[in-house]
Amino acid sequence: FVGVIVLGLCLGLGLGPDRRIPDFTRTFLTRCKKFSGNNCHELWDAFQQAYVNKDPCKVPMEAYDPLIAAAPLKSQCNKMLFWSNTKDAPHYFTKKKENCFINLEDTLLGFVLDDLIWCGKKGSSDTFTTGCPNNNNCVNNPVHSFWKRASAAFAEAACGAVPVMVSGSITTPFHPASIFASVEVKRFKAPIVTNLTVVLVTEKHNVARCTDPSLKDLRKELDKGIQYNCKEVPRSEIEACSSNPNITCGTCW
Ligand code: APR
Repeated sequence: FVGVIVLGLCLGLGLGPDRRIPDFTRTFLTRCKKFSGNNCHELWDAFQQAYVNKDPCKVPMEAYDPLIAAAPLKSQCNKMLFWSNTKDAPHYFTKKKENCFINLEDTLLGFVLDDLIWCGKKGSSDTFTTGCPNNNNCVNNPVHSFWKRASAAFAEAACGAVPVMVSGSITTPFHPASIFASVEVKRFKAPIVTNLTVVLVTEKHNVARCTDPSLKDLRKELDKGIQYNCKEVPRSEIEACSSNPNITCGTCW
């Protein structure tokens, strides 16, 4: 009973979570601190200036340049895992084999903004989390432009052998409109990146194979000097391998 009264007093006196901080800001700062970001308020300012008080259909990826500059990435050779159209398999894998690979969502900005939605409005200094445009409304929306810009930085930091998990359940596993095709592949440079391994994640109702024409395009687009190979791996195998402590990094494909 005394505890309830003390808690009530604390909240009343404003000693609890600060109600003046909007939920989105709080999520941003809490996740940033959880990741051990030491300049979270500076990052929040750099983040906001990209979209606040702007038409939410006119935010290009370059708007996030100051944010990306404020959160530099360490290059981690042979450890960066890319994906397209198959978010759950690569994330399942990186979670189970924590020290083997990292996804964009295991870096500070990717971790902070994973699965969030935000936008601004002309004439307002607020951040909105509902009524924001998506790719069906306009491509230069704050969320998509962020992922494009962050993906560009992530791909520029890639080095050594680079795996990418793509889906065998769709007709075009290397889709030209995807971020992987339009932003990341173009930034892999030989001799810093030595190999690209396409891990084609197959399921019962598989439609695409390593012989898929879109993967031929991928091979053609690669910087000369980057070795290419492709492996078809059932999703069940990736899941079993991820959970098997006797199997070390990289041997799941
Ligand atoms: N949270 C929310 N949305 C995301 C996230 C995320 N963590 N990552 C990407 N997105 C958005 C992007 O706007 C993207 O258009 O989801 C879409 C994912 O589309 P897909 O066609 O599945 O894949 P792709 O466009 O190729 O993007 C995935 O880009 O994010 C990088 O490194 C990541 O290699 C990966 C690739």
